[in-house]
Amino acid sequence: MKFFVDTADTKDIAELAATGLLDGVTTNPSLIHKSGRDFMDVTKEICGLVDGPVSAEVVALDHPTMMKEADILRKIADNVCIKVPLTIDGLKTCKALTSEGTMVNVTLCFSANQALLAAKAGATFVSPFVGRHDDNGFDGMALIEDIRLIYDNYDFGTEILVASVRHPIHVLQSAKIGADVMTAPPAVIRSLFNHVLTDKGIAGFLADWEKTGQKIG
Ligand code: E4P
Repeated sequence: MKFFVDTADTKDIAELAATGLLDGVTTNPSLIHKSGRDFMDVTKEICGLVDGPVSAEVVALDHPTMMKEADILRKIADNVCIKVPLTIDGLKTCKALTSEGTMVNVTLCFSANQALLAAKAGATFVSPFVGRHDDNGFDGMALIEDIRLIYDNYDFGTEILVASVRHPIHVLQSAKIGADVMTAPPAVIRSLFNHVLTDKGIAGFLADWEKTGQKIG
C-alpha cells in the first residue's frame, strides 16, 4: 500500500520523505489555508520534495473553469495530480484531463456508487473519506471493502486512495482490505512507528550497554 501524507506543511513532508516511506502528498483548500502559504508557491515546493503524485485541488464548480484552473495547476510540475470533486462537472473534468494524460484524484467520495462513477470517468485515484463517514454514523471501512470488491469485479485501474484517515486502525484495515493508497496527517503516520515494547526494549538495551562501559568507535 502506498503512503501519501495529507498536509501542505513542507517541514513535515520533508521529514517524512527522508524516511523513504512517502509515495505522494495530498492537499486540499483547508490544508492550504492552514499552511498560510500561497497555493502556487507551496504546491511547487511540495512537488520538489517528493517524486510521487501531489494532489492540488481545483475550486471552481463548473467544468470549463475547472479545466482552466487545472491547466494552471498542472503546469507547476510533472507530478501534479489534479483533484476534482465527485460531481458531474468534476467527472467531466476528470475524463478530459485523464484523456490528456494528466493524473486526477476524484475527491469527496462517500458511496460505492460514486466510486464506480469515478472509475468509469477514468480517475487515476478515488478518495473515499473514511473518517468523515465514521463521524456521521456510517462505516468508513465497509465503504472501502465495497469499492475494492467492485473495482476487482471489473478490473478498474482506478486506485483506491483511503482519505480522511484518523488513526492507525484505519491504516491497518486499509492494508488488510487491499486499498492501493492511504493518505494520513503527519501525526497519524508518525504514530505508526510507536510501540510501548519498542520503547521498553530500547531502554533495556541502553541500560545494559551502559553497564558494559564500552563505546562504539
Ligand atoms: C484527502 O485528500 C483529504 O484532503 C483529507 O483526507 C480530508 O481529511 P479530513 O476529513 O480529516 O479533513
